Amino acid sequence: MFKGMLISLADGAQRNEIREFSEDELPHGSALVRVLYSGLNYKDALAVTGKGKVIRMFPMVPGIDLAGEIISSENPAYRPGDLVLITGSGLGELHWGGYAQMARVPAEWLVPIPQGMSAESAMIIGTAGFTAMLSVMAIEMAGAVPDGREVLVTGATGGVGSIATALLAHAGYSVCAVTGRMELADYLRELGAKTVMRREDALNAPQKPLASERWGAVIDSVGGETLASAVRACSIGAPVAACGLTGGANLALTVMPFILRGVALLGIDSLNCPYERRLQAWKRLAADLTPEALAAVGKTHPFSDIERLSAELMQGHIRGHAALDMSQF
Ligand SMILES: NC(=O)c1ccc[n+]([C@@H]2O[C@H](COP(=O)([O-])OP(=O)(O)OC[C@H]3O[C@@H](n4cnc5c(N)ncnc54)[C@H](OP(=O)(O)O)[C@@H]3O)[C@@H](O)[C@H]2O)c1
Repeated sequence: MFKGMLISLADGAQRNEIREFSEDELPHGSALVRVLYSGLNYKDALAVTGKGKVIRMFPMVPGIDLAGEIISSENPAYRPGDLVLITGSGLGELHWGGYAQMARVPAEWLVPIPQGMSAESAMIIGTAGFTAMLSVMAIEMAGAVPDGREVLVTGATGGVGSIATALLAHAGYSVCAVTGRMELADYLRELGAKTVMRREDALNAPQKPLASERWGAVIDSVGGETLASAVRACSIGAPVAACGLTGGANLALTVMPFILRGVALLGIDSLNCPYERRLQAWKRLAADLTPEALAAVGKTHPFSDIERLSAELMQGHIRGHAALDMSQF
């Protein structure tokens, strides 16, 4: 028997329950994993608080990522005791996820935790850090270079934003971090931001198709008017990685930044990321995220705090990215 969280729907109302499970209740899959840590992501908070339609099949064990050790695997690539992680792939949405002490999953979803990285660090990075790395890789593939103009990071004190700031600074980019929490400016400077800008100051006139050229590249986890303003203020050829919507899902723009400045809008989808790119991203995360950056970004909490932490994340009160210790229910 093991413990986990189950979310069900009864008469249209969401019910969250911590309960004991037996192994045979787990869904089918070729690998059985003891979950050591899970992550607290924006999507997880939406699912736990019921504020967003993340879960697409009930009842569901939530948790869009996990890190743990193999108990058994039909795939010979994995042996008992191997440390593995999963992000996305439908975990916690269509397939029982990381908020239980055991998970049974298709072995193709597993990524070996890179040498030298602990399961706890893997979940302090989690889906948020993985997405930040995919965003960095995307702007680099589209031509961003460290000695170019400033790179804008929005939602900078959040999970994606904090890790994007640390990764870009480590790679030598000059980062301008935009935040609604100026009281965390020192934290962003500690991660390597050269400039910290108030959220309101990053907005420009929506009626104008273009604003003065400023950004050499953008990593945006906010969407809405923040993303539109960032695109309008991009310099010639700047790539923009769009990965989130905490500030809104709409995008009110003209085509001018694209046709007059060659701005490249790049969508980031961590869920369906091809396997080879997953491996590449985790290898780079292991190499490029310094222990100091990881210690600043992340904190590990007992899983028993999940309801409180989810509510705090929805109110924008969590800094960086939190891991959840699955031994503490
Ligand atoms: N595309 C993908 O595959 C993928 C993967 C992971 C996450 N995401 C998305 O990326 C976004 C960020 O995820 P996360 O895990 O980093 O979340 P998070 O830790 O909650 O951080 C989000 C940050 O956004 C800013 N923010 C919140 N509400 C805002 C508002 N109303 N207007 C402007 N800024 C606001 C805040 O930063 P400041 O206080 O510093 O301003 C907050 O810390 C979410 O939308 C998530 O769904 C997408």
